[in-house]
Amino acid sequence: MSPLIPSPDKKNATAAIIMAAGQGTRMRSATPKVLHPVAGRPLVHYPVRAAIEAGCDEVIVVVGHGRVEVAAYLAAAFDSRVRTAVQEEQRGTGDAARVGLAAAGSHVRSVLICNGDLPLLLSDDLVRVQRAFDSANSDHAIALATCELADPMGYGRVLRDASGEILEIREHKDLRTDEELRAREINPGIYVASAEFLSEGLFALQPNNAQGELYLTDIVAFAHTRGKRTLGVSSRAEVLVGVNDRNQLVEAEAAMYERIARAWRTQGATVRPGARIDDAVVVADDVVIEAGAALRGTTRIGRGARVDVGCVLTDVTVGEAVVLKPYSVLSSSVVETGAEIGPFSHIRPESFIGENAHVGNFVETKKTRMEHGAKANHLSYLGDGVIGAGANIGAGTIFCNYDGYQKHTTIIGSGAFIGSDSQMIAPVTVGEGAYVATGTTVTRDVPKGALAISRVRQDNKDGYADKLRARLAAEREAAKQKGSKDGRNTP
Ligand code: UD1
Ligand code: CA
Repeated sequence: MSPLIPSPDKKNATAAIIMAAGQGTRMRSATPKVLHPVAGRPLVHYPVRAAIEAGCDEVIVVVGHGRVEVAAYLAAAFDSRVRTAVQEEQRGTGDAARVGLAAAGSHVRSVLICNGDLPLLLSDDLVRVQRAFDSANSDHAIALATCELADPMGYGRVLRDASGEILEIREHKDLRTDEELRAREINPGIYVASAEFLSEGLFALQPNNAQGELYLTDIVAFAHTRGKRTLGVSSRAEVLVGVNDRNQLVEAEAAMYERIARAWRTQGATVRPGARIDDAVVVADDVVIEAGAALRGTTRIGRGARVDVGCVLTDVTVGEAVVLKPYSVLSSSVVETGAEIGPFSHIRPESFIGENAHVGNFVETKKTRMEHGAKANHLSYLGDGVIGAGANIGAGTIFCNYDGYQKHTTIIGSGAFIGSDSQMIAPVTVGEGAYVATGTTVTRDVPKGALAISRVRQDNKDGYADKLRARLAAEREAAKQKGSKDGRNTP
């Protein structure tokens, strides 16, 4: 659905008020509920984004618990498109709506009010309620989303009379009769009303209820007593689930991951069930993402790349046709076209893996740049390094980058060969095309084209193996004899 058209003259402006001041007691968390992450973004991100995309002229978020963190997040994510209003004391949704309304501009005609704990909400769902309100006749004071749930436990219920007229919303805790408890039509927490009606209705609210709070939902009964009607806009239950506890959080997140996977599949990526792609991640065409892969933060995957089972990528840019073999972990790094990584590689922050470079099993890089075609296929620690094009790093090579006080850099020239089990004691430079023999401890720079070797020369003593065995057996026998004389039990 196309968004509402923002009114150019601002005389008929719409404001959205997102209520996000609650602590979320049922989360049992030190973190305010609306900052709990869902698919990599704080929960509050989604209803705010939906309100912006719906085209509301003003978006006001009511903050309270964790206000500093919530406001800082919103400013970083949405800059001037969102304003915050502080609800000092959390006296209920009715009070939160008052705070939001007070922050709205005087030109605002209609107001969309929305719970801040609806992560699956989309702009369409808001636009539908707003449009229904706009086209309803003047008998109507309020439009609200409604939906039917098989298990309405915990939600406010929409109570109607025999003719279907909405009379009130009654909170779960305030339900009295069996009939009320059986009502399956619930209030998901999305309302539209005129600023004029709200400025009257919200200030008439009284805390006459089980929780002693000011309920926004009581404006429905208030409208009814004034001879005004409430329009129910039947909406999609699956996107209107509120998150109150961690079970609902995890269920909503699972639905979000499924939604994201479906969207990328439509765009031409094969995303297996059980892969988790965060909301901000971008995936190109013909990518394959296997089960159990987790793509987080600002990760970007290039065309034709493959992310195999169990890979975890956080803020990583992956080029075209890259192959990430199973169980590789990559963070804040760049992997260029055609590179191959894994299985079981650990690419730590600020690594750059160049075109067609290979990083194999049990290789760890940190702040290391591998130029195109460089290879490190087995069991290495490559920290604070620069590895030139086509260089080959043998199994078990360690860049000894840390002396306990400072980090030092190892530079390996292009085309150099580092034999297995070598140590580079940084700072050290191995020149272009140089050759470091297996088992060498490199303590000094190796000039371009040179061979570096540092190991004790091997000595073979012919026939000595049997002599050695005889001597060792005799020593063991002597030890046994001594043990039994001393009365000890030798094994
Ligand atoms: C509310 C509705 C209920 C509806 C349900 C849908 C009321 C009285 N009840 O109940 O009818 O079925 O949502 O999920 O509105 N908040 C504030 N300040 C406050 C209190 C709450 O900003 O003083 C915010 C919360 O951060 C949250 C939202 O308002 O984002 C809803 O509050 P919550 O306590 O979750 O209301 P419910 O009990 O779920
Ligand atoms: Ca809620």
